[in-house]
Amino acid sequence: MNAVLVASNRGPVSFTLSEGGELTMRRGGGGLVSGLSGVVKQMDVLWVCAALSDGDRSAVRLAPGGRLDRAGYDTGPLRMLDIPPATFHRAYNAVANSTLWFVNHLLYDTPNKPHFDGRFRREWESYQSYNAAFALALAEQAGPGARVMIQDYHLTLAPAMLRGERPDVRIAHFSHTPWAPPEYFALLPDDVGIEVLSGILGADHAGFLTERWAAAFMDCCEVVLGARVDRARRTVVHQGRTTKIGVHGLGVDGEALWARALEPDVESHMAALRQRVGGCRLIVRIDRTELSKNIVRGLLSYREFLAQHPEWHGRVVHLAFAYPSRHDLPEYREYTAAVQRCAKEIEDDYATEDWDPLILNVHDDYPRSLAAYRMADVLLVNPIRDGMNLVAKEGPILSPRSALVLSREAGAAAELGRDAILVNPYDVSGTARALHEGLTMPEEERARRGERLREAATALPPAAWFSQQLDALDG
Ligand code: G6P
Repeated sequence: MNAVLVASNRGPVSFTLSEGGELTMRRGGGGLVSGLSGVVKQMDVLWVCAALSDGDRSAVRLAPGGRLDRAGYDTGPLRMLDIPPATFHRAYNAVANSTLWFVNHLLYDTPNKPHFDGRFRREWESYQSYNAAFALALAEQAGPGARVMIQDYHLTLAPAMLRGERPDVRIAHFSHTPWAPPEYFALLPDDVGIEVLSGILGADHAGFLTERWAAAFMDCCEVVLGARVDRARRTVVHQGRTTKIGVHGLGVDGEALWARALEPDVESHMAALRQRVGGCRLIVRIDRTELSKNIVRGLLSYREFLAQHPEWHGRVVHLAFAYPSRHDLPEYREYTAAVQRCAKEIEDDYATEDWDPLILNVHDDYPRSLAAYRMADVLLVNPIRDGMNLVAKEGPILSPRSALVLSREAGAAAELGRDAILVNPYDVSGTARALHEGLTMPEEERARRGERLREAATALPPAAWFSQQLDALDG
């Protein structure tokens, strides 16, 4: 039995099964996991997550009661749920990543998609069972009056389900993504939209990264559920229960980030990169290759910048890190191919014998990303829409003299907008102008803005972010 529990789809570690049947453990990736890992381990919180791979499933089967910490792994208290692979696939890929993620990031190409048909119904049922498996495990592991912190769009139904099983526990839900406005949320079949909203409202506290996403959620509750919303007090009353709405803008632990960024592997990547780009200035982007990250328009902006500013030819290099993500989904595979095609066109148009205008890296490499942050002159972060975007916060911490070109649709714009160069992510020409502005911004002004960006980025590091929510749950 535990007093504080966290639940999320992806956990802090994952396992790989070798051909010889040996298991090796790796740290998990993604914004949510990197934010929570340190905090959870320090506070002795039980983390409940899903087994994502065959390696994870094998590890779970060997662990007593699915508790991996008891099997001697150095994971912190951890229980992984062995959900049947087909159910997991439909819940994670079809509903969470292809439906709810698309709705909240406004990604549908509506003349063709979405279409909610019989197949979707089966996927939706899997999403319900996946959430029920979490609710059951949490109900089993939570001590009397425990606080349970449920994370993200994979687990929107779990709060109400857990409430049904264990009315004594205090439940928080946190959305790490944006939230759609009601007219876009209405794309979901009515019963699905209602279930998602009332699922989250099973929590005592529903947290969001910015005021804007919290407001959109409250709007949906009012329009779709007819719930009573008090915007001033930030409460939603639905079926006689009150849920408090909170805004907690996750930030970065600057000291921990610097400690990692000063390690020798990062230094040697810096030396190698410096050798490769010579004295050129650097425009850097670092993303997982997700449709919402808008990498293609970012590359088109760089191309337009090169077309309009021949004086920069031979003097600037764009380092674009586009790491693999969610390759089970065809849209993601196609998007990765589009990124590579666009990069190739830029190479073909502009590369010379002694100047490579663009370096595209599609392989995951954390120390190399840290090296790029440290060397950036301009950091480009131009998502179509993003819950927060921690790259926009990590960059200014590691590169105090870089200029930040930031999409106004990223949650981070609410905190960093004053000192970043804000862009409309669809406006390729506007973004090209912003890149030029970033490169030519006077040194002093960059330093002044950089200082304030750093302050804002470190204002609410993960440990404080987490305790703020625990406190809100007590209040
Ligand atoms: C990003 C989002 C998180 C989400 C995670 C899932 O980091 O900000 O909200 O939980 O992606 O990524 P995954 O690789 O697990 O699908």
